[in-house]
Amino acid sequence: KSIVVLISGSGSNLQAIIDACSSGFIPGKISAVIANKANAYGLVRASDAGITTQVLSHKTYASRDHYDEALIDAIDQHQPDLVVLAGFMRILTPAFVQHYAGRLLNIHPSLLPKYQGLNTHQRAIDAGDTEHGCSVHFVTEQLDGGPVVLQAKVPLFSDDDVATLSERVHEQEHRIYPLVVRWFCQNRLQQQADQAWLDGNIL
Ligand code: GRF
Repeated sequence: KSIVVLISGSGSNLQAIIDACSSGFIPGKISAVIANKANAYGLVRASDAGITTQVLSHKTYASRDHYDEALIDAIDQHQPDLVVLAGFMRILTPAFVQHYAGRLLNIHPSLLPKYQGLNTHQRAIDAGDTEHGCSVHFVTEQLDGGPVVLQAKVPLFSDDDVATLSERVHEQEHRIYPLVVRWFCQNRLQQQADQAWLDGNIL
């Protein structure tokens, strides 16, 4: 399977997926990594792994629609079976999401449907939650609202701050994202409208 990964930052989830492809855990190949920011550290991780990279800055496009059209063109050069959002910090247009329906995954740092949007770790701390976590989901037009495939929970301690909590959540992200990509590449995972299916069962 051909995978295209979109990033904006550090790319630690990208790294976990790169490692899982090289070890054979994921039966697929990352064909390209595309970033909207030239200084995204994940671009270095990709080059180090010998993966084609591209920067497509949103700043040079007049509108979100134009940017997303250019992004589709860039991605489709690589004929992906799967598009993986790994810390890609942009809201995508309905046209983009529809174009990749059923083959677009995202990881979100909360136990969805809780804390859609930004600053999830701080919001969980402020709410006095005793658990927190991350979710891998198919992307639909509803922001952070598509069908969840897999979640991991972590404890939230009273002395946690955003740094300690996000580190604990990241460890789980690096575990569950490669696993979900593996399922997809093994043809075991599907999206049907607002439901995700694994091995013929609704998740
Ligand atoms: C992760 O916390 C992910 O849940 C969110 O963006 C962050 C990306 O981290 N969508 P990294 O760039 O993979 O290290």
